[in-house]
Amino acid sequence: MNYRHAYHAGNFGDCLKQALLMWLVERLQRKERPIAVFDTHAGAGAYDFGSTEGMRIGEWKEGIGRLLSDPPVALAAYVALVQEIMQDAEGAFPGTPLLVRRLLRPGDRLVCCELHPEEYASLKRRFAGDRQVAVHHRDGWEALKAILPLEPRRGLVLIDPPYEEPGEFARLAAGLGAAQQRFPTGVLAAWYPIKHRAPVRDFHEALAAGRLKDVVTAELYLREPTDPARLNGAGLLVARPPYEFAPAARAILDALSERLGQGEPGGGAALLRITGG
Ligand SMILES: C[S@@+](CC[C@H](N)C(=O)[O-])C[C@H]1O[C@@H](n2cnc3c(N)ncnc32)[C@H](O)[C@@H]1O
Repeated sequence: MNYRHAYHAGNFGDCLKQALLMWLVERLQRKERPIAVFDTHAGAGAYDFGSTEGMRIGEWKEGIGRLLSDPPVALAAYVALVQEIMQDAEGAFPGTPLLVRRLLRPGDRLVCCELHPEEYASLKRRFAGDRQVAVHHRDGWEALKAILPLEPRRGLVLIDPPYEEPGEFARLAAGLGAAQQRFPTGVLAAWYPIKHRAPVRDFHEALAAGRLKDVVTAELYLREPTDPARLNGAGLLVARPPYEFAPAARAILDALSERLGQGEPGGGAALLRITGG
């Protein structure tokens, strides 16, 4: 387990994931009934841009760093939320658990799994004594089968693995299938990297041929995805997207593309329907 999210926190892929995640959680909260959110690969919770890792690569500068001042309208609520959390966390950038926690109403719940001992310890500390949040030192893939369906039975599962092992797309497709079978009323969201076109196309094709229902993907490209050694784009798959996801995601994608684009050929965004309901 070599992956450390601190190197990548706040990059364009994180902004895509977080802005859409925020929209999904708030949409689920339009109904009064409580919701549960399950973050299967939750990370450390918050990331210090001034740390060795944050400074060394500095991916955040081309991501959230370009949004913090004068954010586009479609991203204004997301950026305001990030800034609010950063103020309370002594400048640290929120990972998905902190972002979701800020959105929870009394009665809503957050469940997190994190396998790396240090990341887990840091997340556990952040939520010590918080009765709305459960943090488990546990394999997120295994927990997907054991924990679902969530209680309450309305909610969202975020699957955000590190993609450091071969076969992670196949594992994701299988995990999504198992999750939808056990939690058919839930919204599923999964982040994935776009380096080269081929593995992403194979992933889409495997989903289209499988049993996962009602799947759309929101993808952002910085450039043509032809170099397997670079993160050229990122996607968020959403199964059972709530009503009006498509126009909201389109607006978020367009704003991200406009502000974070680097003027390279093949940059842009796409919203694709992969399977029907
Ligand atoms: C991309 S990061 C997730 C970050 C988090 N969702 C966020 O956006 O703030 C992936 C995390 O998964 C953890 N991880 C790796 N394999 C895991 C597994 N099998 N189960 C749970 N966590 C795992 C890594 O240690 C890493 O912190």
